[in-house]
Amino acid sequence: MVFENAGLSCGFLCLNGRFSQPDSSGVVFNMNTNDHNSLIINLEGIFFKYPGSSGNVIDNLDLKLYRRDRIGIMGDRIGIMASNGSGKTTLFHIIMGLLKPDAGNIEIFGKPVSTEKDFEKVRRRIGLLFQDADDQLFSPTVLEDVAFAPMNLGKTPDQAKKIALDILNKLGLDGFENRITYKLSGGEKKLVSLATVLAMKPEVLLLDEPSTGLDEKTKARLVDVLSDLGLSYILISHENDFLYKVTDSIYTMENGKIFPVEKIHRHLHTHPHISHE
Ligand SMILES: Nc1ncnc2c1ncn2[C@@H]1O[C@H](COP(=O)(O)OP(=O)(O)O)[C@@H](O)[C@H]1O
Ligand SMILES: [Mg+2]
Repeated sequence: MVFENAGLSCGFLCLNGRFSQPDSSGVVFNMNTNDHNSLIINLEGIFFKYPGSSGNVIDNLDLKLYRRDRIGIMGDRIGIMASNGSGKTTLFHIIMGLLKPDAGNIEIFGKPVSTEKDFEKVRRRIGLLFQDADDQLFSPTVLEDVAFAPMNLGKTPDQAKKIALDILNKLGLDGFENRITYKLSGGEKKLVSLATVLAMKPEVLLLDEPSTGLDEKTKARLVDVLSDLGLSYILISHENDFLYKVTDSIYTMENGKIFPVEKIHRHLHTHPHISHE
């Protein structure tokens, strides 16, 4: 049974009594699995091992992420909840080309990607929120950091500043523009990191623990921001209720593979009871 493999509590898996198993063909839950035009990320048979470590962190992993806007529904929103060290961050870094798999095929936006040049294009279209904000932020002030991507994409300084200020406003960070980046709190850094990612107007997001360090009010704002974006994304989180609010299906990772454990059926008239692990 999947719930034994997943190592997660029944409270998590049995939400509303709707426990789901992966189908025999693999990890795909989506309605439009045959629609290759809407396939944004397609990983097949990926293997990865860190130099010097004994086993594979990623071991024959398959994953598909779809764009569902063709049928008028917002993008595919996958949540990943899995133990520390199960390879979630590694998986994101492989998708972005920051780590090179030892074997397997990666197709992004319908094209095979393998060289650094291929991944440079990918990195302009997929926004990665790093797990550690210190890996993301590098400018002295918040405004410089958030305006960096638009400037890099050819906007004038005034245009870039406007984009940056708009995004900071959306994230509830008005007045943060001249703050010194390295002096921000952990939660503030996380939000500013997200602002730098959104400023590049990505088509897809990979969000590595975006709610870490955020207070409840800020988390609620993040739920609204993510819902309004209408983008496809994969989001890693250890927080059940946050994950259930912002994703449509939950996956877990174990033994180097990823597989779905729950599809969330949203009924406006019900209030799902979520048990904590
Ligand atoms: N740079 C590295 N060198 C060697 N091992 C690493 C490195 N980064 C991560 N690992 C190991 O790979 C495994 C997966 O790490 P990671 O992808 O960060 O997991 P997760 O994000 O699920 O917590 C862990 O056992 C971790 O210790
Ligand atoms: Mg991680």
